[in-house]
Amino acid sequence: MQDGVCILIKFVQDVNPNKINMAYYFRLGDIPPKRHIQFRQPDGSLYKEELVSSKGFSGIYSNLYHIHNPNNVKSIGESSAYNWEPAQAYGLKQTHLKTSGVTTTGKDYLSARKILMMNHDVMMGICSPEQRKMDYFFKNADGDELIYVHDGEGVMYSQFGKLKVRKGDYIVIPRTTIYRFDWIEEGPLRLLVIESKGPIETVKRYRNELGQLLEHSPYCERDIRPPGELVTEDEKGEYLVQIKKGGMLHPYTYGHSPMDIVGWDGYLYPYAFSIYDFEPITGRIHQPPPVHQTFQAWGFVICSFVPRLFDYHPLAIPAPYNHSNIDSDEVLYYAEGEFMSRKGIDRGSFTMHVGGLPHGPHPGTVEKSIGAKSTEEYAVMLDTFKPLFVTSQGLEYVDENYPMSWKE
Ligand SMILES: [Fe+2]
Repeated sequence: MQDGVCILIKFVQDVNPNKINMAYYFRLGDIPPKRHIQFRQPDGSLYKEELVSSKGFSGIYSNLYHIHNPNNVKSIGESSAYNWEPAQAYGLKQTHLKTSGVTTTGKDYLSARKILMMNHDVMMGICSPEQRKMDYFFKNADGDELIYVHDGEGVMYSQFGKLKVRKGDYIVIPRTTIYRFDWIEEGPLRLLVIESKGPIETVKRYRNELGQLLEHSPYCERDIRPPGELVTEDEKGEYLVQIKKGGMLHPYTYGHSPMDIVGWDGYLYPYAFSIYDFEPITGRIHQPPPVHQTFQAWGFVICSFVPRLFDYHPLAIPAPYNHSNIDSDEVLYYAEGEFMSRKGIDRGSFTMHVGGLPHGPHPGTVEKSIGAKSTEEYAVMLDTFKPLFVTSQGLEYVDENYPMSWKE
């Protein structure tokens, strides 16, 4: 079996070395024929190999080949706090955070990051920086990131290469990836930012034992977009990498560009997946949120609600039913379209429905939904398995009327 897999990988590599849709193995640039052997630069010196591995040496990993020593630190600046706190005495309330009118949330990528909800597993917030081009690199050593591009178009430059991103993309960034974004100047820029303690992964029940996405998965490897082109910079100088670790930012200056990679291969790399490539699963009667699941992580899941045909039982009710999730909190971020079960919700709204209270469609919306054939909505859902808290920063966006909005 192993030999068969290797032969197939070899065959695909021969056809196009950069386009391997087998499981998640991927490679870009030049790499030596084996790991950990001599691999020399044109001047005869060795390239510097870096193994980026997860779960000790037991998880997914990639091997990167640097021109320069990745430990060549020139100076270390003063660390500063970069964390958020749950709001005190918020109470038990269904919550609507109105962020639709927000145009910018801060000057640059890091100062514009506003975390609105959090627990020990996950943080979720918004980011609309004024500066579209980052003049530093960022490395999040605290967790994996999932950035949903609500509005905007740009390029993510990382050691793994250049990844073009656009509206509707989920960008999965494994922890410690050194990266920066260049967003186009025109039009709005709205990012939904999620930081996860655990790795952000494709959904286990949609994978076979070798990791390939199965036939019933709502997306497959062809929809996953790894970096498309390696950017190799040999320049020396001063390169700032802001490293987030332990809820602090640590400014590290290196003596060369961190983008000095000539090649890499492995399973660990950033990639994009567009919500527009998510194929919805529908049924005769209302399908529960797990059919919309897109990613899994420790303590939470991410689901995508996309345009789809409504339920087709002759007595179907397209609107959802009231429900009590006794052990999870549910956040919906409304991206596009009309949300038939909600009133007063705009593009860019968050709703957080908490365990301990039932929730459901607003009065009148259930009857109104009967007979509807399809929906054009897009929404991103975060369901946590531990209580989620509104942060002090999130209070700024609270719609005070929402908890009473089901009143007949
Ligand atoms: Fe719900």
